[in-house]
Amino acid sequence: MSLVPIDVKEKNFQTLMLIYEQAMLQVKRKLESFQTSLKEFYNYDVINNINCRIKTPESIINKMKKKNYDLNYKELIGNVNDIAGIRIVCPFKTDIFKIKDTIEEDSLIEILQIKDYVHKPKKTGYSGFHIIGQTPVNIGDTIAQVKIEIQIRTMAMDFWSTVEHKIKYKAKNKLSKFDSMKMIHYAKIINKVDTKITKINSKYLG
Ligand code: GTP
Ligand code: MG
Repeated sequence: MSLVPIDVKEKNFQTLMLIYEQAMLQVKRKLESFQTSLKEFYNYDVINNINCRIKTPESIINKMKKKNYDLNYKELIGNVNDIAGIRIVCPFKTDIFKIKDTIEEDSLIEILQIKDYVHKPKKTGYSGFHIIGQTPVNIGDTIAQVKIEIQIRTMAMDFWSTVEHKIKYKAKNKLSKFDSMKMIHYAKIINKVDTKITKINSKYLG
C-alpha cells in the first residue's frame, strides 16, 4: 500500500476535517504515551499537558485569504499546515528538546519542518518550538499522509502567548505601538526568567 497525499476528489469539507481529526487524535495518543514514558524515565512530569484542536472553517478561510491562497482543497491541503494542531506544555526549556527528540525518534510522526522560535523568538516576542509533521491515516484502501502542527512551549511561554493572544492575536483590536512594545518587552523579561529557572533546575539534576 502506497502513501499518498490526501485525495480530495469526491470528498467534502466535513469528510476532510474528519481525516485531520483522525490524524490529530492518533498523534495525541502517541504523545500521551510519551508523557508516561518521559515521566518514568526522568521522574517528573516532563509534559504538563497536551491540548489539541481542529481549526474552525472560519479561521481556515481567514488564513487562506490572509496568505493569498486560492480557496480550493489543493491549496488548503498543500499550504495550511495547522488544520490539526497539538500543543504540548512543559516546565523547563530543556524539556522542549527532550520532547522534540522523542518525537523525532518515533516513526508515526514524520517531521517536515521545524520552526525554532525558542532560540530565535519572533519579532512579536512569541517564543515556542513548532514541528510541522505528517502522519499516515487509513482512508478506505489507501493510506494518506496528513499534516499536523505540534507546538511545544514552556509554561512561561504558554502564559505569555495565551494572554497576548487574548489581548491581540487575530482580534480586531489592534494594540497601540506603545502597548505592542510593552508586550515585546515583557516577553523578553519572561524569557530571561524562564532561562534562569531552567538553569537552576539543571544544577540539581542528579
Ligand atoms: P498563523 O497564520 O498565525 O498560523 O502563522 P503561520 O502559519 O505563518 O506560522 P507561525 O509559525 O508564524 O505561527 C504559528 C502559530 O504560532 C500561530 O497559529 C499561533 O498559535 C502561534 N503564534 C505565532 N506568532 C504568535 C504571536 O505573535 N502571538 C501568539 N500569541 N501566538 C503566536
Ligand atoms: Mg496557526
